[in-house]
Amino acid sequence: MANPVKISPSILAADFARLGEEVSAISTAGADYIHIDVMDGHFVPNITIGPDVVKALKPHSDKPFDVHLMIAPVDPYVDAFADAGADIITFHPEAGAHVHRTVQMIKARGLKAGLSLNPATPISALDEILEDLDLVLVMSVNPGFGGQSFIESQLRKIETIRKRIEETGKQIELEVDGGVNFDTAPKVISAGADVLVAGTATFKGGPSAYAENIATLRKRP
Ligand code: DX5
Ligand code: ZN
Repeated sequence: MANPVKISPSILAADFARLGEEVSAISTAGADYIHIDVMDGHFVPNITIGPDVVKALKPHSDKPFDVHLMIAPVDPYVDAFADAGADIITFHPEAGAHVHRTVQMIKARGLKAGLSLNPATPISALDEILEDLDLVLVMSVNPGFGGQSFIESQLRKIETIRKRIEETGKQIELEVDGGVNFDTAPKVISAGADVLVAGTATFKGGPSAYAENIATLRKRP
């Protein structure tokens, strides 16, 4: 029997004026990870939050903090996010010239390291680094904003990466981010994902809906 699908709600869709309460509410409602989207207005055309906010949120949840860095460069900020309480740090290969070094920096801090592929980034970006990773994050939208539509062509990519991960024989999680909702989640799960990021679909309906939203997203088709 396959492991249960994990849900990592993206707090980008939370009420930013009540962020601590929101993080606590999704944790109680069954979130497996807390997905934190960090954007710099340079690598992506939007600005969100930095390490001080991550630090302030940490006491509001005992779930692993899944920090998705959409920033360039990455290396000067690894320590700040590690100190702030990140448990997983994921970055994009386009953010710097030395992907292997960045992965080693993250792991040297005792954290899990993830690499994220944009919709047009080829799977070959994983060729020399897959076995060093703890997580691969497939973007099913172009990074920068919540609430975008799922790009269907990424399903084949998810299937191929799932096979590549199986071939390594290692415990590497396959996470999918962007436009994951009640319609697209079953397809993403069938394609081989084991962690789903969901912002809009988790936070829809307010706190009383979070538990049901998370349970619905998690269902295997
Ligand atoms: C996009 C972010 C996503 C986004 C997901 O750049 O990485 O995590 O917030 O939002 P939804 O689930 O609303 O597409
Ligand atoms: Zn994200």
